[in-house]
Amino acid sequence: MRLRLILVLIFLSCGGPSEPLSPEEKKLKQGQALYRTLCTSCHNIDPAREGSIGPAVADASLELLTAKVLQGTYPPGYKPARPTNMMTRIALTEDDLKALAAFLQKK
Ligand code: HEC
Repeated sequence: MRLRLILVLIFLSCGGPSEPLSPEEKKLKQGQALYRTLCTSCHNIDPAREGSIGPAVADASLELLTAKVLQGTYPPGYKPARPTNMMTRIALTEDDLKALAAFLQKK
């Protein structure tokens, strides 16, 4: 009787029958959550499309994201999608930027 209870508890603490998320899936989810929270006021919820204010940002590299999001600049030689400088700077960690890059580069 007691053994069965313990087995049930072990089963529940493993999160039930669904597979736990892999590190890659966790990163994608983190990137998606950051994008939806911080970026979609201007960029489209679908990063491959133009937003109400910001351009499409699908495929953005980590280098581009780091320059644009942290400093409002672009990597050397990069041709910006827009000539404006309207985007606010957002103080994100390297980890957050990597998660955003993973999400935006997702096929
Ligand atoms: C206040 C509106 C606004 C917010 C919020 C915003 N952006 Fe932008 N973003 C823009 C605009 C407008 C541009 C076009 C250049 C400019 O005017 O700064 C841009 C340009 C970019 C570019 C450069 C695209 C290119 O190829 O030239 C990237 C990458 C980008 N945004 C990513 C992000 C990410 C990631 C977030 C969230 C962390 C974000 N932006 C939040 C408005 C915004």
